[in-house]
Amino acid sequence: MAQKTITPAKSMRGQIMVPGDKSISHRALIIASIARGTSRIRGLSTASDVQATRQCLQDLGIVIEDQEEDVVVHGRGRYGYHQPEKTLDAGNSGTTIRLLSGVLAAQPFTTTITGDASLRTRPMRRIIEPLEMMGAHIESQDNKAPLTIKGGTLRAIDYASTIASAQIKACILLAALYAKGTTRVTEPSQSRDHTERMLDAFGVTAKCSGSCAAVMGPAEFDGRDLQIPGDISSAAFFMVAACLLPQSNLTLQQVGCNPTRLGIYDALAAMGAPIQMGDVAAVDNEPRADISVKSGRLHAATFAGSMIPRIIDEVPILSIAATQASGTTVFRDVSELRVKESDRITAIVTNLKLMGADIKEDKDSIVITGPTPLHGAVLDSFGDHRIAMAFSVAALVADGKSVIKGRQCVDVSFPDFYSLLQKVRYAG
Ligand code: S3P
Repeated sequence: MAQKTITPAKSMRGQIMVPGDKSISHRALIIASIARGTSRIRGLSTASDVQATRQCLQDLGIVIEDQEEDVVVHGRGRYGYHQPEKTLDAGNSGTTIRLLSGVLAAQPFTTTITGDASLRTRPMRRIIEPLEMMGAHIESQDNKAPLTIKGGTLRAIDYASTIASAQIKACILLAALYAKGTTRVTEPSQSRDHTERMLDAFGVTAKCSGSCAAVMGPAEFDGRDLQIPGDISSAAFFMVAACLLPQSNLTLQQVGCNPTRLGIYDALAAMGAPIQMGDVAAVDNEPRADISVKSGRLHAATFAGSMIPRIIDEVPILSIAATQASGTTVFRDVSELRVKESDRITAIVTNLKLMGADIKEDKDSIVITGPTPLHGAVLDSFGDHRIAMAFSVAALVADGKSVIKGRQCVDVSFPDFYSLLQKVRYAG
């Protein structure tokens, strides 16, 4: 297992651009693949998760080419896929398997889709149930991948999800493109709305109000060009590092700042971080801006309820920030973290205890009291990209050398993470 040795840093300075947003990139590839004609995508994420989506689409007969800076998808319309000769492999990517299942449920053939050991443990009942209500047939063992999807004619549904999950919502909205009538999804609180915004950009209205999204099917649309903003979930690691290291001054250029993803910005501001956003410009319905962060003294905060979907991927790195904040920080209603790429509550608690933090967990909460000095330690990535990157930042702040075991998993969302870190870190 490849490991990364990290020594403490003094400061973080400069300007960087993080790669394209992973969530938007998956949607761009999938929606472009079922559009009529060509879509040219600029700024596609370099993540291996997005590569998995690209490979699945290619296995379904879609031609996707690299042309200089762009990725060009030759869409074949909603029924243009060919039955794949082999099982589709979503790798580590929950977004790939859950979103593609929505489209596969409407195809006139049977497909099997699976993923790596982590993905095969993750819950799929959450998409099987609504897709079966729409008329699809899905075989699985214990509601886990591999999923064998017998596609067919779908009907519109009204679905009240008990979980705020953009993957569930997007799966249903993509299936809804094939169903006659209006399909509505309501969530306990609003999850990221990239699918709705991208469908709107392609000319298919998908917004209703608040935590409801709706698509009127059947809906056909043409290919178009797209520009993807930087991934705020990747930028988050640098934002927190800059807050925590003295004399830092870092600008993250052209980061996506969709309100449903801006929880990290709001959370750091609530904790007293000197963080600022430049002029916001929307391209293809997705706002973007430069975000600047300086070092600051943080104080504790409580995060719960509708805030959680807005920071769902940032709780690991916010937990590192919480160890350096004065007072007790509480993350409540975070049980979804137990079914991510790893059990992230266990991973955060195990590693932060090894570093000397004051941290407690419950079934669906994490409680951290700070500030406490962090000590260098040998830390497990748990095979989870966001754990590896969060603890790489913890290692920069710690008082000795740390080792991250299983560093290669950062490729899942951010292959350039360590080279960008090298560019902006100062050892003194
Ligand atoms: C994602 C939605 C979230 C998030 C994941 C990406 C998406 O998952 O954690 O990293 O692209 O739709 P859930 O929908 O399971 O909350």
